[in-house]
Amino acid sequence: MSDILDRLRRMRAADAPTHGGHVLSYVYDSGLGELDELADAAARLARPLNGLDPTVFPSIAAMERDVIGFTRRMLHGRRSVVGTVTSGGTESCLLAVKTARDLWRLSHGGSSGRPRLVAPATAHAAFIKAAQLFDLEFDAVPCSPDGVLAASDLIDRLDDDVALVVVSAPSYPTGTLDPIAEVAAAASTRGISCHVDSCFGGFVLPWWPGLPAWDFRVHGVTSISADLHKYGYAPKGVSVLLQRGRRRHRAQFFATTGWAGYPVVNPTLLGSRSASPLAAAWAITQHLGDDGYRRLTDSIGRVALAVRAAVDGIPGLRVIGDPVGPAIALGSDDSVPVAERVDPHRLADAMVGHGWKIQPQPGLVQQDGVRIAHSAHLTLTPVLESQVEEFARALAEAADEVRGRPAADPKMMLAALRMLGYGEGGRVPGPAAAWRLLRLAGAGSVSADQPMAMLMALIERLPRSVAEAVLTELLARMSEP
Ligand SMILES: Cc1ncc(COP(=O)(O)O)c(C=O)c1O
Repeated sequence: MSDILDRLRRMRAADAPTHGGHVLSYVYDSGLGELDELADAAARLARPLNGLDPTVFPSIAAMERDVIGFTRRMLHGRRSVVGTVTSGGTESCLLAVKTARDLWRLSHGGSSGRPRLVAPATAHAAFIKAAQLFDLEFDAVPCSPDGVLAASDLIDRLDDDVALVVVSAPSYPTGTLDPIAEVAAAASTRGISCHVDSCFGGFVLPWWPGLPAWDFRVHGVTSISADLHKYGYAPKGVSVLLQRGRRRHRAQFFATTGWAGYPVVNPTLLGSRSASPLAAAWAITQHLGDDGYRRLTDSIGRVALAVRAAVDGIPGLRVIGDPVGPAIALGSDDSVPVAERVDPHRLADAMVGHGWKIQPQPGLVQQDGVRIAHSAHLTLTPVLESQVEEFARALAEAADEVRGRPAADPKMMLAALRMLGYGEGGRVPGPAAAWRLLRLAGAGSVSADQPMAMLMALIERLPRSVAEAVLTELLARMSEP
């Protein structure tokens, strides 16, 4: 048996490091080793359970009550706020959308119509997925080039066919706190549901100083998502969706007695589900409590200040917009001459050579033609505090290496693709053609330290349907036996 585990260890050696703060996306290291041990032990205890049925395994309901109660207190929900533990941010967002759609249909005479979901273009892609799955029209409200939403732009789009508006606290791409109070008030007067997506910041912003109210204190906010597997510091597989009012919460459920087996009653999308992530999150919230999260948030606050100060001292680079909380996006400072600018994707590629991974984000040309700048995303975590000077030095050195180099330009590749019929309004490649295109672009496989600037530039400029088919192919091929 030990050789099996040895094989797994060897496979894991190829992974980007999950601890230590050198990967500034996907992973959330508190820097407290005891949290991992506690989470592992709790997860092991709960491993054989099936979260499908808390009547058979009441420990699951007990842990859920504690976790939901903790989250509700933190987000200033009253007793009428109830909720569900889900498998992650995407599932929480999906359920918020499904609930709002079902309530919209009920209030529209049981209509099976196709309502709209209105959200800033910076809202997480989980809402595009939800709109696709639950048959809503996704109406993306254009933001400024720095990813800032003007409340009136969103409010102007509200009408009787809108089932849900979504705002973020904060948004992932630029760390912006949307104008939640204005949007929620406008939604409320029109009887429209309003979801605050705090999947990313839900376990940080409650302790972040100087913020306007953004949670259940805001009248008109009807649901909030907050991920324990991000800044709750739990292992992957756990998030909370809170709903204002039992009626709304119950609309989230699927229940049927209409088949030959046991009655099925699910608050979530899954049937059978692991209780291990819940148990790990329960143990961590019990251990950290309010004070523990406050201390970790204070640490992130110091990291954010130090990183922003470091970026201010790097010519040609800037922090995009005015981020709140633990996400920062770096962009090129276009106010300086071209020769002094630092392209964020070139910077991300150069940072790999210094042992750090920051996440390139392609630019987004919105409906109104305004482009949200391409950038490099940083997820800031407490573990970074002890190395923030080293990180700042690496940023400065990497910036020196790429300063003046223009952004990658996939002109030749795009011309070739257009000739092959994959230009705007052209064909969408099937699996074989998409694979050929990937190889043509030199991206037949993506390894942890492969330069990404050209691929990102290509993704931004390709027709969306082509880019999506090509990326689907890349991911699908990775797991083909
Ligand atoms: C704001 C926001 N919403 C939703 C999600 C989706 O969460 P998950 O990846 O856990 O499904 C994320 C993930 O980063 C996020 O940042």
